[in-house]
Amino acid sequence: MGIKIGDINVLVDPFITGNDLAKDKININDLKADYILLTHAHQDHTLDAEEIAKNTGAVIVSNFEIANHYEEKGIEVHPMNHGGNWEFEFGKVKYVNAIHTSSFPDGKYGGQPGGFVIEGEHKNIYIAGDTALTMDMKLIPHHTTLDLAILPIGDNFTMGVEDAIIASDFVECDKVLGCHYDTFGYIEIDHEEAKRKFFDEGKDLMLLEIGGSLEL
Ligand code: NI
Repeated sequence: MGIKIGDINVLVDPFITGNDLAKDKININDLKADYILLTHAHQDHTLDAEEIAKNTGAVIVSNFEIANHYEEKGIEVHPMNHGGNWEFEFGKVKYVNAIHTSSFPDGKYGGQPGGFVIEGEHKNIYIAGDTALTMDMKLIPHHTTLDLAILPIGDNFTMGVEDAIIASDFVECDKVLGCHYDTFGYIEIDHEEAKRKFFDEGKDLMLLEIGGSLEL
């Protein structure tokens, strides 16, 4: 997923060349990136990070272990860890808790998984990463009034729709962009049913097409 903040292109968890839904629609050589945020080390979040970083010179921002992994490959990195903030040129980023796992495809330790809260110049976004519903989400609105929450909704490996609706309450943001669904058989969802469930709770669930975009 890509987020454009001012002139800065921030890519999050690029998984394109191994993704049957995306590989014919997006050419990774065309992607612009100044920063690549990685929530955790799983292949469906990191597969194309190295190549895109090398193509673009983007800085990889992630937890300490994932940052070290890419620094050893000669990529510029910015390591963070849970609860920490850093002022980047596109805004303040906080690495927040997620309940999931985070190994690299070869089994190497990928630190603890996380999510990101980005406070941009005008808009604030929560990128949950892969996670279960967790009470820690209630901490986010103590610091940040969100304009958008990007939440996993595919179930099986992460929250499903029902828990994502509760997560939306916890982070106090009714505008939700769904992620982590349909990529594999385990996480295929009924789009209309998911949207209706959010709508019935007075919330807005947006589901983008591959290559699609929305403006905040
Ligand atoms: Ni994962």
